[in-house]
Amino acid sequence: MKKKILTGDRPTGKLHLGHYIGSLQNRIKLQSTYDQYILVADLQALTDHFDHPEKVTQNIIEVTKDYLSIGIDPDQTTIVVQSQIPEIAELTVYYLNLVTLGQLNRNPTVKYEIQQKGYSKSIPAGFFCYPVSQAADITLFQAELVPVGDDQLPMIEQTNEIVRRFNKIYHTNILKECKAVLSKTSRLVGIDGKSKSSKSLGNAIALSDPPDVIKKKVFQMYTDPDHIKASDPGRVEGNVVFTYLDAFHSDQEAVADLKAHYRRGGLGDVVIKNILNDSLQRLLGPIRAKRDSLDTNMVKEILHYGTAKAAQLAKATIEMVREAIGIQSF
Ligand code: TRP
Repeated sequence: MKKKILTGDRPTGKLHLGHYIGSLQNRIKLQSTYDQYILVADLQALTDHFDHPEKVTQNIIEVTKDYLSIGIDPDQTTIVVQSQIPEIAELTVYYLNLVTLGQLNRNPTVKYEIQQKGYSKSIPAGFFCYPVSQAADITLFQAELVPVGDDQLPMIEQTNEIVRRFNKIYHTNILKECKAVLSKTSRLVGIDGKSKSSKSLGNAIALSDPPDVIKKKVFQMYTDPDHIKASDPGRVEGNVVFTYLDAFHSDQEAVADLKAHYRRGGLGDVVIKNILNDSLQRLLGPIRAKRDSLDTNMVKEILHYGTAKAAQLAKATIEMVREAIGIQSF
């Protein structure tokens, strides 16, 4: 039997280049050798969008279209709507007993998000505990591999702590530990050069952005503020255009030559931005065309089918879990 993979994304906006380079490429690569599940994590998205649920519900189809347009194949990958699998919620309740507030408090990704969202004075408990429901996501689908960006490493660690504790307390080995699959560029900087590329910060290039928007964003990219005239020597480190050329240009030797030229002086920002724009248009053009060809009813059918398939696995796992704990009906 093929080993299982599980990942997911919160559907709070369209997916962007950060997702592509961080985990989507790995998911495309791995889907033929593994039994892959992808969760459209609407339940998790509600933990920070409970007051704007429409932002989540409206994006489920959009994110699924992103998956299909980049080459996630529904015959190989099962795409699942998280909220339609109630066993995730049940498993989360069991797991909450196995985790301390101290452990949750130490999670660096959650800490960063709490600060970013301005929650520091009153943190919604659902949000604070989402790493526990993520552990339920992963283990309910018996996943051994999780292709994610490196911001998700604390979630994997938390999952494995829960797995060990569960197996020890209930004298079982039904739960399996999992491993992250990271990409070379597992965290892409935003076009502002300040923080991680993210939809909510408005500094990301979406996979579905139209050509003029891509170009505009490339031309807004942070470069080297001391590189004023084209003849000046310029800095490549921290220069977002070069970060993106490293990540997305198809000819890395050409990128090395451009870097040397830029460092020496004599290469203007407009030239490198045009080169980057060309390579991003080449990458994203076919993805956008595929997306435009997708029929929304077909996308809904794919979700329906994937969720129904996932429900069977969820049922099998939760039965083992209930049995291990000793929960029974009368
Ligand atoms: N936390 C992930 C994110 O914010 C989304 C996610 C939900 C996920 N469940 C998951 C990722 C399970 C990996 C495995 O993008």
